[in-house]
Amino acid sequence: MKSKASSPGKVILFGEHFVVYGVKAILCAIDKRITVTAETISENKILIKSNIGNLELEPNKKISEINSPLKPFYYLADKLIKNQNVGIQIDVESDIPLGVGLGSSSACCVAGAAAISRLFSNTSKEQILELAIEAERTIFENTSGADCTVCTYGGIMEYDKKKGFNKIKSEPNFHLVIANSNIEHSTKSVVESVKEFKEKNEESFSILCDKESKLIEDVLKSLKENNMKELGNKIIENQEYLERIGISNEKLRKMIQIGQRKSFGAKITGAGGGGCIFALTDESNLEQTMNQFKDENYDCFSVKIDFKGLDTF
Ligand code: PMV
Repeated sequence: MKSKASSPGKVILFGEHFVVYGVKAILCAIDKRITVTAETISENKILIKSNIGNLELEPNKKISEINSPLKPFYYLADKLIKNQNVGIQIDVESDIPLGVGLGSSSACCVAGAAAISRLFSNTSKEQILELAIEAERTIFENTSGADCTVCTYGGIMEYDKKKGFNKIKSEPNFHLVIANSNIEHSTKSVVESVKEFKEKNEESFSILCDKESKLIEDVLKSLKENNMKELGNKIIENQEYLERIGISNEKLRKMIQIGQRKSFGAKITGAGGGGCIFALTDESNLEQTMNQFKDENYDCFSVKIDFKGLDTF
């Protein structure tokens, strides 16, 4: 038996880090995907093949003893083959760069949960999301769940840690130019450094959270109106807040400067410390913005919003 699923990656448009402290964040799925094929095999084994390496293990291993970025797949396979008397082979194909804040691990968890669970039952999107978040917790215990949610449902959404997600109905037609710093970041350690910043600067952190909340409300309006210029201004403002909580660095600042020359605005996306930045463009300034990065030898590509989310075959 064989089952296949694919999930988009994501960018956080606004609100990263502040979302951990109760502010809303706005995320969107992007048209770069991870595809997972799962197949039952007669051998009692869990075999995972991917372009970042392979993993082959017997079932029933302790998750804490597995040291591999492919651990979420093992977790899902081991959980779902219980009492099935089969092994499983998983093949992963990805066009999302890894470990740079574009949701590659969440997309793996979502597509993995869908492909593996659907070998045995007709799981719903809600059940798949639940499984995906569980699997993501094996690599990042404190995940807010926002990434897996947007990878499952696609489109653009607001996310609140307590109230969950709310899909935004508008379908803005923008292009994001994404540039990769090629500095790998650990979301966990950057989140930890923001926690330290907060503990040392309670008052100014709380003011920043209030400002970010107000910014998010303004963004929701601008999204409805498809107001690129205003959205660009909010991106620039959000980047200032990210600078203040200390998650930027010289290379990222330089990239943002390049991104802002021709676009509506540019900022870090995700945890920061490395990873990617994006610049907001439309047809009028997409190419010029791409050229700014290429002229200075930075890796970049453009994406649009993915409105499909999880797809199963
Ligand atoms: O690095 P990413 O894209 O996984 O983003 C992490 C986002 C944070 O707000 C920093 C953490 C979280 O769990 O929301």
